[in-house]
Amino acid sequence: MTQPGTELQELIAEMEMRRRRVEEGGGPDRQKKQREGGKLTARERIAALLDPGSFLELGTFAQHQGGRLMQGVEAPGEGVVTGRGTIHGRQVFVFSQDFTVLGGSLGKMNAAKVTKVMDLAAKTGCPVIGLNDSAGARIQEGVDSLSGYGEIFYRNAVYSGAVPQISAILGPCAGGAVYSPALTDFILMSGGSSYMFITGPEVIKSVTREEVTFDALGGADVHTRKSGVAHLSYDGDAAVLAGVRDLLSYLPQNAREQPPVVPTADPVDRRNDRLLEIVTPDQRKPYAMHEVIHELVDDGTFLEIQPHWARNILCGFARLGGHSVGIVANNPRVMAGTLNIDASDKAARFIRTCDCYNVPVLTLVDVTGFLPGVAQEHAGIIRHGAKMLYAYAEATVPKVTLITRKSYGGAYLAMNSRDMGADAVYAWPTAAVAVMGAEGAANIVYRREIGNAENPGAMRAQKIADYKDAFDNPYVAAGKGYIDDVIPMEDTRRILIQSFEMLRDKQEIRPYKKHGNIPL
Ligand code: HXC
Repeated sequence: MTQPGTELQELIAEMEMRRRRVEEGGGPDRQKKQREGGKLTARERIAALLDPGSFLELGTFAQHQGGRLMQGVEAPGEGVVTGRGTIHGRQVFVFSQDFTVLGGSLGKMNAAKVTKVMDLAAKTGCPVIGLNDSAGARIQEGVDSLSGYGEIFYRNAVYSGAVPQISAILGPCAGGAVYSPALTDFILMSGGSSYMFITGPEVIKSVTREEVTFDALGGADVHTRKSGVAHLSYDGDAAVLAGVRDLLSYLPQNAREQPPVVPTADPVDRRNDRLLEIVTPDQRKPYAMHEVIHELVDDGTFLEIQPHWARNILCGFARLGGHSVGIVANNPRVMAGTLNIDASDKAARFIRTCDCYNVPVLTLVDVTGFLPGVAQEHAGIIRHGAKMLYAYAEATVPKVTLITRKSYGGAYLAMNSRDMGADAVYAWPTAAVAVMGAEGAANIVYRREIGNAENPGAMRAQKIADYKDAFDNPYVAAGKGYIDDVIPMEDTRRILIQSFEMLRDKQEIRPYKKHGNIPL
């Protein structure tokens, strides 16, 4: 091999020295502190996220362009590492904020590095993944850092639904550092070492006098259980990054493509005999909807989204015959599966995410209705419940509905009935479709007759039985064409797979509009 001349050697040495300087970020002490906090460094995170050797760095030698207050301040790599790589062999773009450099704070050039990879992701039709660990707007850069956030938020919104955007929260994210993730499709947090808040504990104390810890204010538990801001939480950075890889396996590269097909050895016609044990005909006896889902899908694998928030509804990804499917299911074990405000928000958002990215939707129905109550009414259940109706009607992906047991009232419609646009609707023999349960119906419709009867108890029982005969079964709805078939429970997997196969090339053209106006 020819040896470079002295002059070239010097240039190469300088490049290598500068690169090493950038790669050291905030230096060994701050990196040590980062690791002591149980966190990986920005570059270690990229290495853990991407397929080995696939990372191509961009903007390596970017320098901050801050004004007077930034004079003499060094910011290696500008506090963020950016580039492209692959996950499961498919290209993604990534930015990884470096907390060791000025707290990962966002200045003008830092933002320019981020928007560069966002633009490349949009142009090439690839997902963009943000690894967030940032103290928010760089205070020393003033309005320039606010402008930097504006440029990122703008792209988050414009590229929303065009390419998947995924946010991993891996440190204390404050101010602007949380609004960009909030505009993306999914937020994954690391428990114990990541926080999200608009204003931190100190500001809160000075304004409202409330005293709160970081964790209690914006930790992973808060955002995955109480606020519904985050979708998933994991133990540590490596687990979050593995979670991002897993999540992407259910999604296409962009809105024009289909999700990847993952071949499975699980037979299409595997019988579901176990369902006969899980679900009983007793409408009042709750059962584990999770077990129903595990029984139906490929290899029993279900990636539940927001598993700890609004647990009365289940949302998540699985595969049927190798193809991605988004599942929305009532959970009879929590609040009897009724729909409330949070459940409506959770399901509507999930349905829209599936629709953006061509993931067909399977809806499993066992619901008595919307949750009654003054608090729900006053907090706007009408507005929130409407989101679900809207999301189902708006979605043009293949939609299959299976009524497992009861499907009553407004919730019958909100859970994607035939009229709301379901392409195929099935019911098990245990299903009952009616305006409400037989007891409630008899009490309202036959109140006078029951009241006037010699034996009101016997009359009530007779009226309940009459109503059950008339509606508390799947055959009246099937007779009127609202249900396509009442199916054997043990044959459900095959029927669902064949139904989605039937719908694979489905196209639905809607009237021209700029965009719909979903109630928010
Ligand atoms: C510049 C910052 C910074 C910031 C921290 N640093 N925040 N530099 N701009 N916003 C620097 C520190 O000086 C320190 O530098 C290093 O980052 C690490 O910070 P520490 O405070 O030592 O770390 P820690 O104790 O872990 O606390 C992390 C933190 C805290 C909770 C994030 O730093 C913090 O509260 N920062 C301010 C957060 C904030 O108010 N941001 C602005 C939000 S307003 P050295 O050199 O010592 O390592 C906003 C506007 C946009 O974002 C809104 C759009 C809607």
